[in-house]
Amino acid sequence: MSGNFNAASGSGHRAGQDACREPVHSTRAPAMDAASYGRVPGANDRIGVGFIGFGLIGKQHVNDLKKRKDVDLLGICEADRPRLEEGLAYLENAGARGYGDFRQMLDDSDIHGVVISTPDHWHALQTIMACQAGKDVYVEKPLTLFIDEGKWMVQAARKYGRIVVVGTQRRHYSGVLDSRRVVQSGILGKIHSVRWSAIRNIYPGFGLMPPSEPPAGMDYDMWLGPAEKKPYTAHRALYHFRWFWDFSGGQMTNLGAHIIDQVMYVMQVRGPTMVSSVGGRYALEDDGETPDVQDTTWVFPGPDPSTPGFTMNATIREANAGASIPDAEKRGQLYLGTRGTMVLSGNWEVLPEVKVEPLNAIPSFSGQPVGGPVHTKAEPVPWIEPSKGTGVTADAIYGVGGQDTLAMNKQDWLNCMRTRQRPLCDVEDGHRVATACHLANLSLRLGRTIHWDPEQERVTGDPEAAAMCVKEYRAPWDRALKDALG
Ligand SMILES: NC(=O)c1ccc[n+]([C@@H]2O[C@H](COP(=O)([O-])OP(=O)(O)OC[C@H]3O[C@@H](n4cnc5c(N)ncnc54)[C@H](O)[C@@H]3O)[C@@H](O)[C@H]2O)c1
Repeated sequence: MSGNFNAASGSGHRAGQDACREPVHSTRAPAMDAASYGRVPGANDRIGVGFIGFGLIGKQHVNDLKKRKDVDLLGICEADRPRLEEGLAYLENAGARGYGDFRQMLDDSDIHGVVISTPDHWHALQTIMACQAGKDVYVEKPLTLFIDEGKWMVQAARKYGRIVVVGTQRRHYSGVLDSRRVVQSGILGKIHSVRWSAIRNIYPGFGLMPPSEPPAGMDYDMWLGPAEKKPYTAHRALYHFRWFWDFSGGQMTNLGAHIIDQVMYVMQVRGPTMVSSVGGRYALEDDGETPDVQDTTWVFPGPDPSTPGFTMNATIREANAGASIPDAEKRGQLYLGTRGTMVLSGNWEVLPEVKVEPLNAIPSFSGQPVGGPVHTKAEPVPWIEPSKGTGVTADAIYGVGGQDTLAMNKQDWLNCMRTRQRPLCDVEDGHRVATACHLANLSLRLGRTIHWDPEQERVTGDPEAAAMCVKEYRAPWDRALKDALG
Protein backbone atom coordinates (compact mmCIF):
# COMPACT_ATOMS: atom_id res chain seq x y z
CA MET A 1 0.00 0.00 0.00
CA SER A 2 1.42 3.33 -0.90
CA GLY A 3 -0.45 5.78 1.20
CA ASN A 4 -3.37 7.21 3.02
CA PHE A 5 -4.64 10.78 2.81
CA ASN A 6 -5.10 12.46 6.15
CA ALA A 7 -7.66 15.23 5.82
CA ALA A 8 -6.53 16.90 8.99
CA SER A 9 -3.04 17.38 7.62
CA GLY A 10 -4.16 19.44 4.69
CA SER A 11 -7.36 21.00 5.86
CA GLY A 12 -7.08 24.73 6.27
CA HIS A 13 -10.56 26.03 5.68
CA ARG A 14 -13.66 25.53 7.79
CA ALA A 15 -16.94 27.30 8.32
CA GLY A 16 -16.23 30.63 9.93
CA GLN A 17 -12.86 31.02 8.28
CA ASP A 18 -13.86 33.66 5.91
CA ALA A 19 -10.85 35.44 4.48
CA CYS A 20 -10.87 36.13 0.76
CA ARG A 21 -9.03 33.46 -1.08
CA GLU A 22 -6.93 33.22 -4.11
CA PRO A 23 -8.79 32.18 -7.25
CA VAL A 24 -7.75 28.87 -8.70
CA HIS A 25 -6.27 30.15 -11.87
CA SER A 26 -4.90 33.58 -11.21
CA THR A 27 -2.40 35.01 -8.83
CA ARG A 28 -3.90 36.69 -5.83
CA ALA A 29 -4.04 40.34 -6.70
CA PRO A 30 -5.93 43.40 -5.65
CA ALA A 31 -9.12 43.51 -7.71
CA MET A 32 -8.77 47.22 -8.31
CA ASP A 33 -7.02 50.42 -7.68
CA ALA A 34 -9.44 51.11 -4.85
CA ALA A 35 -9.25 54.86 -5.01
CA SER A 36 -10.21 54.96 -8.65
CA TYR A 37 -13.79 53.78 -8.76
CA GLY A 38 -16.96 53.94 -6.75
CA ARG A 39 -16.96 53.89 -2.98
CA VAL A 40 -14.95 51.36 -1.03
CA PRO A 41 -16.09 50.57 2.50
CA GLY A 42 -13.34 50.79 5.09
CA ALA A 43 -12.71 48.09 7.69
CA ASN A 44 -15.18 49.62 10.15
CA ASP A 45 -17.72 51.07 7.72
CA ARG A 46 -21.16 49.61 7.37
CA ILE A 47 -21.86 48.19 3.92
CA GLY A 48 -24.94 49.36 2.02
CA VAL A 49 -26.55 46.61 -0.05
CA GLY A 50 -29.34 46.59 -2.64
CA PHE A 51 -31.12 43.55 -4.09
CA ILE A 52 -32.18 43.00 -7.70
CA GLY A 53 -34.75 40.19 -7.88
CA PHE A 54 -36.71 38.87 -4.90
CA GLY A 55 -37.58 35.34 -5.98
CA LEU A 56 -36.71 31.94 -4.57
CA ILE A 57 -33.03 32.68 -3.97
CA GLY A 58 -33.30 36.46 -3.72
CA LYS A 59 -35.45 36.07 -0.60
CA GLN A 60 -32.83 33.74 0.90
CA HIS A 61 -30.10 36.31 0.24
CA VAL A 62 -32.12 39.00 2.02
CA ASN A 63 -32.74 36.59 4.88
CA ASP A 64 -29.00 35.88 5.22
CA LEU A 65 -27.86 39.50 5.06
CA LYS A 66 -30.59 40.62 7.47
CA LYS A 67 -28.75 38.72 10.20
CA ARG A 68 -25.59 40.75 9.79
CA LYS A 69 -24.82 43.71 11.98
CA ASP A 70 -22.40 45.35 9.53
CA VAL A 71 -24.80 45.57 6.56
CA ASP A 72 -27.59 48.04 5.79
CA LEU A 73 -30.29 46.72 3.48
CA LEU A 74 -31.03 49.90 1.56
CA GLY A 75 -33.04 48.95 -1.49
CA ILE A 76 -34.80 46.28 -3.46
CA CYS A 77 -35.73 46.14 -7.12
CA GLU A 78 -38.34 43.80 -8.60
CA ALA A 79 -40.08 43.55 -11.95
CA ASP A 80 -43.08 42.07 -10.15
CA ARG A 81 -44.90 44.52 -7.90
CA PRO A 82 -46.40 42.02 -5.41
CA ARG A 83 -42.88 40.63 -4.89
CA LEU A 84 -41.47 44.13 -4.62
CA GLU A 85 -43.94 44.93 -1.86
CA GLU A 86 -43.23 41.67 -0.04
CA GLY A 87 -39.49 42.20 -0.42
CA LEU A 88 -39.57 45.76 0.84
CA ALA A 89 -41.43 44.67 3.97
CA TYR A 90 -39.05 41.71 4.37
CA LEU A 91 -36.02 44.03 4.51
CA GLU A 92 -37.36 45.38 7.83
CA ASN A 93 -35.74 48.74 7.21
CA ALA A 94 -38.19 51.63 7.15
CA GLY A 95 -35.69 53.72 5.21
CA ALA A 96 -35.21 51.19 2.41
CA ARG A 97 -36.39 52.09 -1.09
CA GLY A 98 -38.23 49.95 -3.63
CA TYR A 99 -37.58 50.17 -7.36
CA GLY A 100 -39.11 48.76 -10.52
CA ASP A 101 -36.07 49.76 -12.60
CA PHE A 102 -32.66 48.66 -11.35
CA ARG A 103 -30.96 51.58 -13.14
CA GLN A 104 -32.51 53.94 -10.57
CA MET A 105 -31.23 51.82 -7.70
CA LEU A 106 -27.75 51.89 -9.20
CA ASP A 107 -27.82 55.70 -8.81
CA ASP A 108 -27.99 55.42 -5.01
CA SER A 109 -24.48 56.25 -3.82
CA ASP A 110 -25.16 54.78 -0.36
CA ILE A 111 -25.39 51.35 -1.94
CA HIS A 112 -21.91 49.80 -2.20
CA GLY A 113 -22.94 46.41 -3.49
CA VAL A 114 -25.87 44.72 -5.24
CA VAL A 115 -27.07 41.12 -5.03
CA ILE A 116 -28.41 40.02 -8.43
CA SER A 117 -30.91 37.14 -8.21
CA THR A 118 -32.74 37.60 -11.48
CA PRO A 119 -33.13 34.91 -14.18
CA ASP A 120 -29.99 33.91 -16.08
CA HIS A 121 -30.64 36.15 -19.10
CA TRP A 122 -30.25 39.23 -16.90
CA HIS A 123 -27.11 38.29 -14.97
CA ALA A 124 -24.52 39.67 -17.38
CA LEU A 125 -26.01 43.03 -18.26
CA GLN A 126 -27.10 43.88 -14.71
CA THR A 127 -23.64 42.94 -13.43
CA ILE A 128 -21.89 44.99 -16.10
CA MET A 129 -24.09 48.04 -15.49
CA ALA A 130 -23.63 47.71 -11.73
CA CYS A 131 -19.85 47.63 -12.21
CA GLN A 132 -20.14 50.72 -14.39
CA ALA A 133 -22.09 52.41 -11.59
CA GLY A 134 -19.26 51.62 -9.14
CA LYS A 135 -21.02 48.79 -7.26
CA ASP A 136 -19.55 45.50 -6.14
CA VAL A 137 -21.69 42.56 -7.19
CA TYR A 138 -22.90 39.20 -5.91
CA VAL A 139 -24.51 37.56 -8.95
CA GLU A 140 -26.28 34.25 -9.07
CA LYS A 141 -25.15 31.27 -11.06
CA PRO A 142 -25.14 30.33 -13.86
CA LEU A 143 -23.07 33.41 -14.60
CA THR A 144 -24.33 33.75 -18.15
CA LEU A 145 -26.77 32.78 -20.88
CA PHE A 146 -24.11 32.56 -23.62
CA ILE A 147 -20.31 32.40 -23.65
CA ASP A 148 -19.35 35.92 -24.70
CA GLU A 149 -21.36 37.43 -21.84
CA GLY A 150 -18.81 35.95 -19.44
CA LYS A 151 -15.94 37.63 -21.27
CA TRP A 152 -17.79 40.95 -21.07
CA MET A 153 -18.43 40.48 -17.35
CA VAL A 154 -14.77 39.77 -16.59
CA GLN A 155 -13.85 42.77 -18.72
CA ALA A 156 -16.27 45.05 -16.85
CA ALA A 157 -15.23 43.79 -13.41
CA ARG A 158 -11.57 44.48 -14.18
CA LYS A 159 -12.17 47.74 -16.06
CA TYR A 160 -14.22 49.24 -13.24
CA GLY A 161 -12.21 47.51 -10.51
CA ARG A 162 -15.18 45.78 -8.90
CA ILE A 163 -15.51 42.70 -6.72
CA VAL A 164 -17.81 40.28 -8.54
CA VAL A 165 -18.73 37.07 -6.73
CA VAL A 166 -20.71 34.31 -8.47
CA GLY A 167 -23.26 32.24 -6.56
CA THR A 168 -21.53 28.86 -6.89
CA GLN A 169 -21.30 28.82 -3.13
CA ARG A 170 -20.72 25.08 -2.74
CA ARG A 171 -17.05 25.65 -3.51
CA HIS A 172 -16.77 26.90 0.11
CA TYR A 173 -17.79 23.53 1.51
CA SER A 174 -14.91 21.96 3.44
CA GLY A 175 -15.52 18.62 1.70
CA VAL A 176 -14.78 20.31 -1.63
CA LEU A 177 -11.68 22.06 -0.31
CA ASP A 178 -10.44 18.78 1.20
CA SER A 179 -11.18 16.93 -2.04
CA ARG A 180 -8.93 19.34 -3.86
CA ARG A 181 -6.15 18.41 -1.45
CA VAL A 182 -6.85 14.68 -1.84
CA VAL A 183 -6.44 15.08 -5.59
CA GLN A 184 -3.30 17.19 -5.20
CA SER A 185 -1.79 14.62 -2.84
CA GLY A 186 -1.58 12.20 -5.77
CA ILE A 187 -2.98 9.32 -3.72
CA LEU A 188 -5.53 8.42 -6.39
CA GLY A 189 -2.81 7.91 -9.02
CA LYS A 190 -3.58 9.29 -12.46
CA ILE A 191 -7.13 10.64 -12.44
CA HIS A 192 -8.32 9.90 -15.94
CA SER A 193 -12.05 10.43 -15.61
CA VAL A 194 -14.73 12.13 -13.55
CA ARG A 195 -18.41 11.17 -13.53
CA TRP A 196 -21.47 12.87 -12.10
CA SER A 197 -25.19 12.81 -12.51
CA ALA A 198 -28.10 15.13 -11.79
CA ILE A 199 -31.24 13.05 -11.76
CA ARG A 200 -34.86 13.31 -10.71
CA ASN A 201 -38.26 12.15 -11.95
CA ILE A 202 -40.83 14.89 -12.53
CA TYR A 203 -42.74 13.01 -15.26
CA PRO A 204 -45.08 14.16 -16.86
CA GLY A 205 -43.66 17.64 -16.26
CA PHE A 206 -45.11 21.03 -15.45
CA GLY A 207 -47.98 21.01 -17.97
CA LEU A 208 -48.84 23.30 -20.85
CA MET A 209 -49.40 27.00 -20.29
CA PRO A 210 -51.23 28.95 -22.98
CA PRO A 211 -50.17 32.51 -23.78
CA SER A 212 -51.95 34.98 -21.51
CA GLU A 213 -51.70 38.50 -20.21
CA PRO A 214 -48.89 38.88 -17.65
CA PRO A 215 -50.25 38.99 -14.10
CA ALA A 216 -51.26 42.36 -12.71
CA GLY A 217 -48.23 44.14 -11.37
CA MET A 218 -45.66 42.28 -13.45
CA ASP A 219 -43.57 44.45 -15.77
CA TYR A 220 -43.06 41.72 -18.36
CA ASP A 221 -41.04 43.98 -20.64
CA MET A 222 -38.59 44.66 -17.80
CA TRP A 223 -38.60 40.95 -16.89
CA LEU A 224 -37.66 40.13 -20.51
CA GLY A 225 -35.04 42.86 -20.69
CA PRO A 226 -32.43 41.93 -23.30
CA ALA A 227 -34.30 38.73 -24.31
CA GLU A 228 -36.39 38.52 -27.47
CA LYS A 229 -39.97 39.74 -27.02
CA LYS A 230 -42.37 36.77 -27.13
CA PRO A 231 -45.89 36.38 -25.75
CA TYR A 232 -46.13 35.83 -22.00
CA THR A 233 -46.95 32.40 -20.60
CA ALA A 234 -46.73 31.57 -16.90
CA HIS A 235 -43.90 29.14 -17.59
CA ARG A 236 -41.81 31.73 -19.34
CA ALA A 237 -41.40 33.79 -16.17
CA LEU A 238 -41.27 33.10 -12.44
CA TYR A 239 -39.10 30.10 -11.56
CA HIS A 240 -39.95 28.11 -14.73
CA PHE A 241 -37.82 30.31 -17.01
CA ARG A 242 -35.24 27.55 -16.42
CA TRP A 243 -36.74 25.34 -19.12
CA PHE A 244 -36.56 27.86 -21.99
CA TRP A 245 -33.51 28.55 -24.15
CA ASP A 246 -34.26 32.30 -24.29
CA PHE A 247 -33.54 32.55 -20.56
CA SER A 248 -31.51 29.54 -19.49
CA GLY A 249 -29.48 26.47 -20.43
CA GLY A 250 -31.76 24.00 -18.58
CA GLN A 251 -30.38 21.64 -15.95
CA MET A 252 -26.93 21.79 -17.57
CA THR A 253 -26.57 25.37 -16.39
CA ASN A 254 -28.99 25.19 -13.45
CA LEU A 255 -27.55 22.18 -11.57
CA GLY A 256 -24.54 21.51 -13.79
CA ALA A 257 -23.01 24.90 -12.99
CA HIS A 258 -22.70 23.92 -9.30
CA ILE A 259 -21.23 20.49 -10.00
CA ILE A 260 -18.89 21.50 -12.81
CA ASP A 261 -17.67 24.35 -10.62
CA GLN A 262 -16.61 21.84 -7.99
CA VAL A 263 -14.97 19.51 -10.51
CA MET A 264 -13.03 22.30 -12.21
CA TYR A 265 -11.94 23.65 -8.84
CA VAL A 266 -10.90 20.26 -7.48
CA MET A 267 -9.09 19.32 -10.70
CA GLN A 268 -7.69 22.85 -11.24
CA VAL A 269 -8.52 23.19 -14.91
CA ARG A 270 -9.46 26.21 -16.99
CA GLY A 271 -11.71 24.56 -19.53
CA PRO A 272 -12.28 21.61 -21.82
CA THR A 273 -10.80 21.11 -25.26
CA MET A 274 -13.65 19.00 -26.61
CA VAL A 275 -17.31 18.52 -25.72
CA SER A 276 -19.87 16.09 -27.04
CA SER A 277 -23.46 16.01 -25.84
CA VAL A 278 -26.63 14.20 -26.87
CA GLY A 279 -30.20 14.22 -25.63
CA GLY A 280 -33.28 16.40 -25.83
CA ARG A 281 -36.79 16.81 -24.46
CA TYR A 282 -37.65 13.11 -24.78
CA ALA A 283 -40.16 12.29 -22.08
CA LEU A 284 -41.75 15.26 -20.34
CA GLU A 285 -45.11 16.29 -21.73
CA ASP A 286 -45.00 19.98 -20.94
CA ASP A 287 -43.99 23.11 -22.79
CA GLY A 288 -40.37 23.23 -21.67
CA GLU A 289 -37.61 23.28 -24.29
CA THR A 290 -34.39 22.30 -22.53
CA PRO A 291 -33.32 18.63 -22.33
CA ASP A 292 -34.86 16.14 -19.93
CA VAL A 293 -32.25 13.61 -21.06
CA GLN A 294 -28.69 14.76 -21.59
CA ASP A 295 -25.48 12.73 -21.77
CA THR A 296 -22.27 14.70 -22.11
CA THR A 297 -18.56 14.02 -22.33
CA TRP A 298 -15.98 16.77 -21.91
CA VAL A 299 -12.24 16.26 -22.47
CA PHE A 300 -9.96 18.35 -20.25
CA PRO A 301 -6.25 18.77 -20.96
CA GLY A 302 -3.49 17.70 -18.57
CA PRO A 303 -1.21 20.18 -16.81
CA ASP A 304 0.97 20.02 -19.92
CA PRO A 305 -1.67 20.65 -22.62
CA SER A 306 0.03 18.22 -24.98
CA THR A 307 -0.61 15.31 -22.57
CA PRO A 308 -4.02 13.72 -22.02
CA GLY A 309 -5.87 14.99 -18.98
CA PHE A 310 -9.21 13.47 -18.08
CA THR A 311 -12.72 13.02 -19.35
CA MET A 312 -15.82 14.19 -17.50
CA ASN A 313 -19.08 12.36 -18.08
CA ALA A 314 -22.43 13.75 -16.97
CA THR A 315 -25.86 12.17 -16.89
CA ILE A 316 -28.84 14.49 -16.59
CA ARG A 317 -32.31 12.96 -16.23
CA GLU A 318 -35.58 14.71 -15.51
CA ALA A 319 -37.86 11.68 -15.90
CA ASN A 320 -36.02 8.88 -14.07
CA ALA A 321 -34.65 9.26 -10.58
CA GLY A 322 -31.92 6.77 -11.12
CA ALA A 323 -32.89 3.23 -10.24
CA SER A 324 -30.69 2.34 -13.20
CA ILE A 325 -27.72 4.45 -12.12
CA PRO A 326 -24.98 2.87 -10.00
CA ASP A 327 -25.22 3.77 -6.33
CA ALA A 328 -21.78 5.32 -6.07
CA GLU A 329 -22.55 7.62 -8.98
CA LYS A 330 -25.87 8.66 -7.46
CA ARG A 331 -24.00 9.68 -4.32
CA GLY A 332 -22.04 12.42 -6.03
CA GLN A 333 -19.00 13.15 -8.15
CA LEU A 334 -16.65 10.24 -8.82
CA TYR A 335 -12.98 10.96 -9.41
CA LEU A 336 -11.55 7.81 -10.98
CA GLY A 337 -7.81 7.30 -10.59
CA THR A 338 -5.55 4.38 -11.30
CA ARG A 339 -5.11 3.65 -7.56
CA GLY A 340 -8.49 4.62 -6.20
CA THR A 341 -11.74 6.50 -6.61
CA MET A 342 -12.77 9.55 -4.65
CA VAL A 343 -16.48 10.04 -4.12
CA LEU A 344 -17.45 13.62 -3.33
CA SER A 345 -20.97 14.23 -2.15
CA GLY A 346 -21.79 14.96 1.49
CA ASN A 347 -18.11 14.49 2.22
CA TRP A 348 -15.21 12.89 0.43
CA GLU A 349 -14.33 9.23 0.59
CA VAL A 350 -11.46 7.36 -1.05
CA LEU A 351 -12.25 3.83 -2.23
CA PRO A 352 -9.08 1.85 -3.07
CA GLU A 353 -8.50 0.10 -6.37
CA VAL A 354 -6.95 -3.34 -6.29
CA LYS A 355 -3.58 -3.88 -7.92
CA VAL A 356 -3.74 -6.94 -10.14
CA GLU A 357 -1.16 -8.59 -12.31
CA PRO A 358 -2.35 -7.41 -15.77
CA LEU A 359 -1.69 -10.86 -17.25
CA ASN A 360 -4.10 -12.36 -14.75
CA ALA A 361 -6.90 -10.15 -16.04
CA ILE A 362 -6.82 -11.97 -19.35
CA PRO A 363 -9.59 -14.62 -19.47
CA SER A 364 -8.47 -18.19 -19.60
CA PHE A 365 -11.70 -20.21 -20.37
CA SER A 366 -10.41 -23.72 -20.93
CA GLY A 367 -6.82 -22.45 -20.84
CA GLN A 368 -4.65 -20.54 -23.30
CA PRO A 369 -3.26 -22.60 -26.15
CA VAL A 370 0.50 -22.94 -26.23
CA GLY A 371 2.32 -19.63 -26.73
CA GLY A 372 -0.56 -17.60 -25.19
CA PRO A 373 -0.27 -15.37 -22.11
CA VAL A 374 0.45 -17.25 -18.88
CA HIS A 375 -1.19 -16.29 -15.57
CA THR A 376 1.10 -15.65 -12.59
CA LYS A 377 0.58 -16.46 -8.92
CA ALA A 378 0.53 -12.77 -7.90
CA GLU A 379 -2.36 -12.04 -5.52
CA PRO A 380 -4.44 -8.85 -5.93
CA VAL A 381 -3.57 -6.20 -3.29
CA PRO A 382 -5.16 -2.81 -2.64
CA TRP A 383 -3.13 0.06 -4.04
CA ILE A 384 -3.95 2.35 -1.13
CA GLU A 385 -5.87 2.42 2.16
CA PRO A 386 -9.45 3.64 2.28
CA SER A 387 -9.94 7.07 3.86
CA LYS A 388 -12.71 9.58 4.25
CA GLY A 389 -13.52 13.06 5.46
CA THR A 390 -14.33 13.31 9.11
CA GLY A 391 -15.60 16.87 9.23
CA VAL A 392 -19.12 18.13 8.70
CA THR A 393 -20.90 15.51 6.69
CA ALA A 394 -23.00 17.58 4.37
CA ASP A 395 -23.15 20.81 2.47
CA ALA A 396 -26.16 22.63 3.83
CA ILE A 397 -29.38 22.77 1.93
CA TYR A 398 -29.63 26.53 2.26
CA GLY A 399 -28.31 26.61 5.76
CA VAL A 400 -30.06 23.54 7.15
CA GLY A 401 -28.02 20.68 8.54
CA GLY A 402 -24.45 21.45 7.60
CA GLN A 403 -22.15 24.22 6.50
CA ASP A 404 -24.06 27.25 5.32
CA THR A 405 -22.15 27.85 2.12
CA LEU A 406 -24.61 30.51 0.94
CA ALA A 407 -23.76 32.61 3.99
CA MET A 408 -20.05 31.82 3.60
CA ASN A 409 -20.05 33.07 0.01
CA LYS A 410 -21.70 36.33 1.02
CA GLN A 411 -19.24 36.65 3.92
CA ASP A 412 -16.43 36.32 1.40
CA TRP A 413 -18.06 38.98 -0.79
CA LEU A 414 -18.30 41.43 2.12
CA ASN A 415 -14.71 40.74 3.18
CA CYS A 416 -13.43 41.26 -0.33
CA MET A 417 -15.41 44.49 -0.63
CA ARG A 418 -13.25 45.77 2.21
CA THR A 419 -9.89 44.22 1.27
CA ARG A 420 -10.29 44.41 -2.54
CA GLN A 421 -8.86 40.89 -2.86
CA ARG A 422 -10.30 38.45 -5.35
CA PRO A 423 -13.00 36.21 -3.87
CA LEU A 424 -13.04 32.41 -3.87
CA CYS A 425 -15.97 32.36 -6.34
CA ASP A 426 -14.67 35.04 -8.68
CA VAL A 427 -16.42 36.19 -11.85
CA GLU A 428 -13.73 34.57 -14.01
CA ASP A 429 -14.28 31.19 -12.38
CA GLY A 430 -18.02 31.56 -12.94
CA HIS A 431 -17.39 32.43 -16.58
CA ARG A 432 -15.19 29.40 -17.20
CA VAL A 433 -17.70 27.07 -15.55
CA ALA A 434 -20.61 28.56 -17.50
CA THR A 435 -18.55 28.16 -20.68
CA ALA A 436 -18.21 24.41 -20.08
CA CYS A 437 -22.00 24.22 -19.63
CA HIS A 438 -22.76 26.27 -22.73
CA LEU A 439 -20.37 24.20 -24.86
CA ALA A 440 -22.32 21.08 -23.88
CA ASN A 441 -25.57 22.70 -24.93
CA LEU A 442 -24.02 23.93 -28.19
CA SER A 443 -22.95 20.38 -28.98
CA LEU A 444 -26.39 19.02 -28.16
CA ARG A 445 -28.18 21.62 -30.26
CA LEU A 446 -25.84 21.30 -33.24
CA GLY A 447 -25.59 17.52 -33.04
CA ARG A 448 -21.78 17.41 -33.21
CA THR A 449 -18.63 17.58 -31.12
CA ILE A 450 -17.41 21.08 -30.33
CA HIS A 451 -13.67 21.82 -30.14
CA TRP A 452 -12.61 24.60 -27.78
CA ASP A 453 -9.35 26.37 -27.09
CA PRO A 454 -9.48 27.11 -23.33
CA GLU A 455 -6.51 29.49 -23.46
CA GLN A 456 -7.76 31.61 -26.36
CA GLU A 457 -11.36 30.97 -25.26
CA ARG A 458 -12.72 30.27 -28.72
CA VAL A 459 -14.43 27.53 -30.68
CA THR A 460 -12.08 26.07 -33.28
CA GLY A 461 -12.98 24.81 -36.75
CA ASP A 462 -16.72 25.43 -36.51
CA PRO A 463 -17.91 28.91 -37.58
CA GLU A 464 -21.57 28.04 -36.89
CA ALA A 465 -20.83 27.05 -33.29
CA ALA A 466 -18.55 30.08 -32.87
CA ALA A 467 -21.42 32.35 -33.97
CA MET A 468 -23.63 30.81 -31.28
CA CYS A 469 -21.28 32.04 -28.53
CA VAL A 470 -22.94 35.45 -28.78
CA LYS A 471 -26.52 36.77 -29.04
CA GLU A 472 -27.97 40.20 -29.79
CA TYR A 473 -29.57 42.09 -26.92
CA ARG A 474 -32.96 43.65 -27.53
CA ALA A 475 -33.00 47.47 -27.66
CA PRO A 476 -32.39 49.56 -25.63
CA TRP A 477 -30.27 47.06 -23.72
CA ASP A 478 -27.85 46.60 -26.63
CA ARG A 479 -26.90 50.28 -26.27
CA ALA A 480 -26.56 50.00 -22.50
CA LEU A 481 -24.10 47.14 -22.98
CA LYS A 482 -22.08 49.05 -25.54
CA ASP A 483 -22.00 52.11 -23.34
CA ALA A 484 -20.81 50.14 -20.29
CA LEU A 485 -18.08 48.25 -22.11
CA GLY A 486 -16.91 51.36 -23.92
N1 LIG B 1 -26.96 29.55 -5.84
C1 LIG B 1 -28.00 28.76 -5.72
O1 LIG B 1 -27.94 27.74 -5.02
C2 LIG B 1 -29.28 29.11 -6.43
C3 LIG B 1 -30.50 28.59 -5.99
C4 LIG B 1 -31.65 28.97 -6.67
C5 LIG B 1 -31.57 29.83 -7.77
N2 LIG B 1 -30.36 30.28 -8.18
C6 LIG B 1 -30.26 31.17 -9.36
O2 LIG B 1 -30.89 32.40 -9.05
C7 LIG B 1 -31.52 32.93 -10.21
C8 LIG B 1 -32.97 33.23 -9.87
O3 LIG B 1 -33.64 32.01 -9.62
P1 LIG B 1 -34.99 31.96 -8.76
O4 LIG B 1 -35.34 30.54 -8.62
O5 LIG B 1 -34.84 32.80 -7.57
O6 LIG B 1 -36.00 32.63 -9.80
P2 LIG B 1 -37.35 33.42 -9.50
O7 LIG B 1 -38.11 33.46 -10.78
O8 LIG B 1 -38.03 32.86 -8.29
O9 LIG B 1 -36.83 34.87 -9.11
C9 LIG B 1 -36.29 35.78 -10.04
C10 LIG B 1 -36.87 37.13 -9.71
O10 LIG B 1 -36.24 38.13 -10.52
C11 LIG B 1 -37.23 39.08 -10.87
N3 LIG B 1 -36.80 39.86 -12.04
C12 LIG B 1 -36.73 39.48 -13.34
N4 LIG B 1 -36.26 40.50 -14.09
C13 LIG B 1 -36.02 41.52 -13.24
C14 LIG B 1 -35.52 42.84 -13.43
N5 LIG B 1 -35.16 43.31 -14.64
N6 LIG B 1 -35.42 43.64 -12.35
C15 LIG B 1 -35.76 43.19 -11.11
N7 LIG B 1 -36.27 41.95 -10.88
C16 LIG B 1 -36.37 41.13 -11.95
C17 LIG B 1 -38.45 38.24 -11.14
O11 LIG B 1 -39.63 39.00 -11.13
C18 LIG B 1 -38.35 37.21 -10.02
O12 LIG B 1 -39.06 37.63 -8.87
C19 LIG B 1 -31.35 31.90 -11.30
O13 LIG B 1 -30.32 32.31 -12.17
C20 LIG B 1 -30.97 30.63 -10.58
O14 LIG B 1 -30.11 29.79 -11.33
C21 LIG B 1 -29.23 29.95 -7.52
